[in-house]
Amino acid sequence: MPDTPEPTISWDRGSGTIRFIDQTLLPERCEVVSCGTVERLILAISRLEVRGAPALGVAGGMGVALAAGKCRAATRDAFLREVEGAAARIAATRPTAVNLSWGVNRVLARVTEAADPAEARRIAVMEAVTMAEEDRATCMRIGDNGVPLVPDGATILTHCNAGALACTEWGTALGVVRSAARAGKRVKVIACETRPLFQGSRLTAWELSRDGIDVTVIPDGSAAYLMRRGEIHLVLVGADRITRDAVFNKIGTYMHAVCARHHRIPFYVAAPRSTFDLRSGEDGVTIEERERSEVSRCGGRTLVPDEARVKNLAFDATPLSLVSAIITEEGVLRPPYRIGSPAST
Ligand code: MRU
Repeated sequence: MPDTPEPTISWDRGSGTIRFIDQTLLPERCEVVSCGTVERLILAISRLEVRGAPALGVAGGMGVALAAGKCRAATRDAFLREVEGAAARIAATRPTAVNLSWGVNRVLARVTEAADPAEARRIAVMEAVTMAEEDRATCMRIGDNGVPLVPDGATILTHCNAGALACTEWGTALGVVRSAARAGKRVKVIACETRPLFQGSRLTAWELSRDGIDVTVIPDGSAAYLMRRGEIHLVLVGADRITRDAVFNKIGTYMHAVCARHHRIPFYVAAPRSTFDLRSGEDGVTIEERERSEVSRCGGRTLVPDEARVKNLAFDATPLSLVSAIITEEGVLRPPYRIGSPAST
């Protein structure tokens, strides 16, 4: 994002802390938080101050670096026990996006192979910073690989926020939009507001309008009818986890995929390889279920009577049979997908 003061998430070498944009405050305020403890990071992840699969991966890795930096255990064994405990707590904070545990495990692996705590602290920071740098380059490649799939003049429906705010910079699905715009294509984005936490209206609309990209916010329930009216040319979303048989993404994504198939509109997923989970099928994945109050209260008002139950699943699973293509940093995958086979690992 050209106007933001800094990347979505970064490591501050001077203070040994994580810096991130508090996304709960957008679009009213863009504030950067300095996070110096694992407990504060866990709170930030659970409150969605930091969110989006690739950003969670970087946050997980930096969280392990933070834990290593803070740990004063006397022996190498005690040091490893403490850092492993912190890593497990960070990874468990949000279960659906595989990037979080991927990021945690990547830095933890470097910590465990270090000769002593001092070396572990140094290597952990290096690895976490490398992850953030790689994430930016990965998003740029995803963006470039997706450009041929976007026709000039396209109106693109997106759901949730798979943009710079969900990564270090640039974005995955919105990275494709940005790259297409940079390549001179005229693109318009329809951002579903994405209830109940409004990542589409608060975040996607915020970052695209700052980039001068044409964006219109719609209530989630409008998407099918706009497809029927011919006002949407393709759907482009990110992913929290891609298994052998399904794409997990923000609740509501499946609905768009079904509608897109009905209206013969391409449904594209943009995601880095770190989002692929080659071991699991749809049934093996935990779908995060969040608090009642996210649905039952809004703007200081109660929207659901106390007697009524609320079901607040944060993600859904879209069968791969509904996905027209998956755009990765390594290229574009097309059906029949062989995710999990040696050729696609
Ligand atoms: O609950 P969130 O806001 O973390 O959900 C995020 C999404 O569903 C994104 O679409 C996904 O992480 C891809 S981000 C590039």
